[in-house]
Amino acid sequence: MPNDAVLKIEGKEYVLPTIVGSEGEKAIDVRNVRAQTGYITYDDGFGNTGSCLSDITFIDGDAGILRYRGYPIEQLAEHSTFAETAYLIINGTLPTPAQRLQLTNLLCEHAPVHSAMDHLFEGFPIGSHPMAILSALLNSLGCYYPHLATNRVQEDLANFDEAAAIAISKVRTIAAMSYRKSRGLPYIYPKRSLPYCENFLHMMFSQPYEDYLPTPEVAQALNLFLLLHADHEQNCSTSTVRMVASSGANLFASVAAGVCALWGPLHGGANMAVIDMLESIHAEGDDGTKFIEAARLGKGGHRLMGFGHRVYRNYDPRAKIIKASFYKALASLGIKDDPLLNIAMKLEEVALSDDYFISRKLYPNVDFYSGLIMRALGIPQNMFTVMFAIGRMPGWIAHWKEVASNPKNKIYRPRQIYVGPVKRDYVPIDLRK
Ligand code: CMC
Repeated sequence: MPNDAVLKIEGKEYVLPTIVGSEGEKAIDVRNVRAQTGYITYDDGFGNTGSCLSDITFIDGDAGILRYRGYPIEQLAEHSTFAETAYLIINGTLPTPAQRLQLTNLLCEHAPVHSAMDHLFEGFPIGSHPMAILSALLNSLGCYYPHLATNRVQEDLANFDEAAAIAISKVRTIAAMSYRKSRGLPYIYPKRSLPYCENFLHMMFSQPYEDYLPTPEVAQALNLFLLLHADHEQNCSTSTVRMVASSGANLFASVAAGVCALWGPLHGGANMAVIDMLESIHAEGDDGTKFIEAARLGKGGHRLMGFGHRVYRNYDPRAKIIKASFYKALASLGIKDDPLLNIAMKLEEVALSDDYFISRKLYPNVDFYSGLIMRALGIPQNMFTVMFAIGRMPGWIAHWKEVASNPKNKIYRPRQIYVGPVKRDYVPIDLRK
């Protein structure tokens, strides 16, 4: 074929087919390269490796484009809700009114957790990290719903809608319960009458004697936060979910693994790092100017957290959207003069007009604002990554389904280049020095 690639090794030429995605992304198909040449490919961190074909999310980092199932993120942010976008990501189409109603009913029905799960919460020591609790409890859902977690792909797929609704609905209940547990507060049960985000805020912040009533701007900010995190193609946690799914493991086990992968500071933890950075700048009496200077010089490993992105080299489209809703939420909460916010705004202003950041294409990413939003909503810092997990759940579920329903699915099994000792003989213990 005219666009085939030719690989020349040890004097021999091999023809490798190429693939072009629906948005023009080009790839060299190396699936047979080992069989043909005896060589494998080496790509530490998978930065150049397409691990799958997927029709869920498209990102063009240079152009600052993010689309779920073809719909631009800007349009979804303006017109949709997190629950509707979750349906879109999982099923591939926007729901009809009847499908939307069915989704609402399923989410309401599955919002409470089995009362026996209370004992699991009780078993965790005070101060347990909510990500550990979340991962463990999501995995345990397979024990409460064994008919949805058979680890026989066709059976699990047959009941997929129920399992997906349980995962989306209960992830927020478990998150709120782990927060209440960490504060020694009584659990607040979900209300059937409340939409997804309002119900979460209710379970987090209502008291037995008084309901928490968020302003529409606050509920909207949370909706947007979750919607903007709903999928981001092959990142560390999503690829982990796909890897676990490729072995035929059930949905709950696969998304529980996703939570663990998300936990690390290089992935879901960046929004917490932004707040840590702002607090340390504040504690040093800096208004941000000295910090920017240090970040520019790379002094002491300083980086401007919440700036830069591996994929987005123009701007992060999610950052633009979240920034606008952030100011509305702040105004509705009556927050005007917050020292950390003032520092953040100063950092942004200086960095956006500074040659160092401009020449390296470093712009604010979604995490620059998302940490500030959650802080304004009263979400404690150790819950920030849990919030990310609630938002990412639809993406993980969609990727599980894509793997499970692929008739040509192969278990994910990369190779390695062994660089350890060559063969040596066992030494009995009394002869070892
Ligand atoms: N502050 C100061 N300098 C930076 C920053 C920053 N935040 N990010 C990159 N640079 C510099 C870096 O020092 C390098 O400079 P030079 O060319 O002089 O050596 C240049 O920019 C290129 O950096 P890089 O490390 O090659 O870029 P990368 O693509 O490997 O890293 C990143 C991307 C997101 C890890 C990085 O920009 C960073 O550490 N940002 C701060 C952490 C952060 O906000 N992470 C959240 C990312 S969004 C989450 C998500 O979508 O999942």
